[in-house]
Amino acid sequence: MDTVDSLLERIVDIVGADNVLLGEELSNHFAHIWQTHIPLRATAVVLPTCVEQVSPILTLCNQHEMSVVVHGGRTNMVGSTETDGSELVISMERLNRILEIDSDSKTVTVEAGVILENLHRAVQEVGLMFPITYGAKGSAQVGGMIATNAGGLRVFRYGMTRQWVLGLEAVLADGTVISSMKKLVKDNSGPDLKQLFIGSEGTLGVVTSAVLRLCRPPANQQTAFVALEDYPAVLRFLKFMEQELGSALTAFEIIWKDTYRNMCGMLKGGGIPLAFDYPLYVLLETSGDASSCGAGRLEDLLEKCLLRGDVLDAVVAGSETQQALFWRIREDVDHIVSQCTHDQHFDVSLPVADIGAYVDRVTAALDRVLEVDKYFVYGHMADGNMHLVVSKTVGSEELKERVNHIVYTPLREYGGSISAEHGIGLHKKPYLGYCRNPEEMQLMCTLKNALDPKGILNPGKIL
Ligand code: LAC
Ligand code: ZN
Repeated sequence: MDTVDSLLERIVDIVGADNVLLGEELSNHFAHIWQTHIPLRATAVVLPTCVEQVSPILTLCNQHEMSVVVHGGRTNMVGSTETDGSELVISMERLNRILEIDSDSKTVTVEAGVILENLHRAVQEVGLMFPITYGAKGSAQVGGMIATNAGGLRVFRYGMTRQWVLGLEAVLADGTVISSMKKLVKDNSGPDLKQLFIGSEGTLGVVTSAVLRLCRPPANQQTAFVALEDYPAVLRFLKFMEQELGSALTAFEIIWKDTYRNMCGMLKGGGIPLAFDYPLYVLLETSGDASSCGAGRLEDLLEKCLLRGDVLDAVVAGSETQQALFWRIREDVDHIVSQCTHDQHFDVSLPVADIGAYVDRVTAALDRVLEVDKYFVYGHMADGNMHLVVSKTVGSEELKERVNHIVYTPLREYGGSISAEHGIGLHKKPYLGYCRNPEEMQLMCTLKNALDPKGILNPGKIL
């Protein structure tokens, strides 16, 4: 029997035949949520149900030098879950229990396969909130969120995933379980080892469970769309809102003119918040108690801005349903992506002050590329994080590289990053040197070699 067959046989012994997918079942287990029609290529898909299974599976894979790619919700944007057919895929979907909600300590203990939206609902039922949220929340899993240090729509106020992970359990390439499932906010007893696994995209270990921090949900939330003249006006508006609202300002999203019109297409005509003819739009949110931002507070501030001519138009959502609709316009990125061909997606970051000039420069350069038929610009402005979706009429590698250079090259000047939140994966690997120096990259290699000397974990990703 060849070694792959004997490896699979031993894995079946560990998880049972029902938890190993082969043949057609395997093919149907797509590699990306947006490409469910493309069959997955892998040696097998294994569905462990506990860490006691993940550990021996990795020990075996390490012995056999079998590459391993972990699948969560497969909503990643940078090819981090792609396979070439030779790998064993470990899918976390059956490792999906919410183990404990401790409402006094404000923590939740979860397995890696829990879907983010289910986590939101479960903690909401006991009057708590997990504030990390993004468009893919209905599919994205906690393990992937941790492995990618996901950001999203309220980073400005609440920070990235990293800030919300108190305890973590991860399995190393050789099967060693590194478990520190503590509920501690403060623990300075040596280096914080869990940080190695947060944001390392499955290259240093496999996250199996975590203790996450929770917070009290705000009593009151208001959401508004605002139209503005140009980027300096948006910057002044942000400053004003920060001064007036402090930490009650919980989101500040910017959307460029054409992008706004296209995003509103998902409404199919009804309920468009603001007319289409303004240069820039901001979607902002306030959260707090009645004293800091009760009903009427946001209206008053926007009224002031309108009277002074600082903003061109504004509308505050009048109900929870309308608030949800405002957010859907921004979150439903699928809607704009579905209008694109040969699309490239960017999530760069740079100092907030430089965003206007950077976008002008990049879009002017894109306008000169004949094969670029459209692009969409929007982002988490208050985090200095811009998204750009570029659609092309041609799918050549050379053109792809040209577009990458247009977007990435100016970032060096601004001290920016080629990835604010989506990670490096496979797609951005050639450009890592645009924002990381050789010494940093060498240290990344040293860590990889120390933790995964045979290079079996998500091989070829990041470095
Ligand atoms: C967003 C995802 C794509 O901000 O990061 O919509
Ligand atoms: Zn984003």
